[in-house]
Amino acid sequence: MKPPTYQYGDLKSPLLENFPHRRHVFSMKFTYYGHACFSIEAGGKTLLFDPFISPNPLAKEIDVKKVAADFILVSHGHGDHVADVIDIANRTGATVIAPYEVGTWFEGKGVKNVQAMNHGGAAKMPFGRVKLTSAIHSSSMPDGAYGGNPCGFVIETSEGNFYYSGDTALTMDMKLAGEGMKLRFAVFPIGDFFTMGIEDALKAAEFVGVNKFVGVHYDTFPPIKIDREAALQAARAAGKELLLPAIGDSVDM
Ligand code: NI
Ligand code: MN
Repeated sequence: MKPPTYQYGDLKSPLLENFPHRRHVFSMKFTYYGHACFSIEAGGKTLLFDPFISPNPLAKEIDVKKVAADFILVSHGHGDHVADVIDIANRTGATVIAPYEVGTWFEGKGVKNVQAMNHGGAAKMPFGRVKLTSAIHSSSMPDGAYGGNPCGFVIETSEGNFYYSGDTALTMDMKLAGEGMKLRFAVFPIGDFFTMGIEDALKAAEFVGVNKFVGVHYDTFPPIKIDREAALQAARAAGKELLLPAIGDSVDM
């Protein structure tokens, strides 16, 4: 008997290319673009968060024209989170997911695909599910327009779930972010001054029940320069794994 032959698109085929969404089974690729900008490849899609690349001298090695995105998730309206949203959205056709006022501001700027949501709301997405969580911070658009309330995101995918708090203070609300689900990791600001510092980020990790988190929103501006070694040491002492990938580096989560 001849062994079976399979063609592309044959759903009985064990060939991986027929199941692109399975390519990253048990693997979520995190890529750091500096400041609070990173992407996650999961659920067969690339999710880009808070793009601030072209104005960031620390990220000058990153070619913003090559940054991939199927979705751009924006936590609030501040310039250090939205600077490259329009260019990347226009080039890639990515859908911008953002708090209502931020999303409608981008629609007004001509961005075609926008999903403007609000806190506590969840939506099924091609990558899985997204839910907007509360964040304690502020939000205004670069032109001074009202930016609504800042948010964080809980993302569920077939590869696993994660939480990005956005710019925020430590808040008891974070306990809700991890409730009823297993989070694989979290992404927290650790730069202090405008957001949580490492001490509160470690408490946030405890609140949401993660052992592993990526630190972002540090070193970009003088007030948020951190002592990396001290931060890593504090995490070790708390029994947590703090990841501080170099800008441009990818980490398998
Ligand atoms: Ni901010
Ligand atoms: Mn910020």
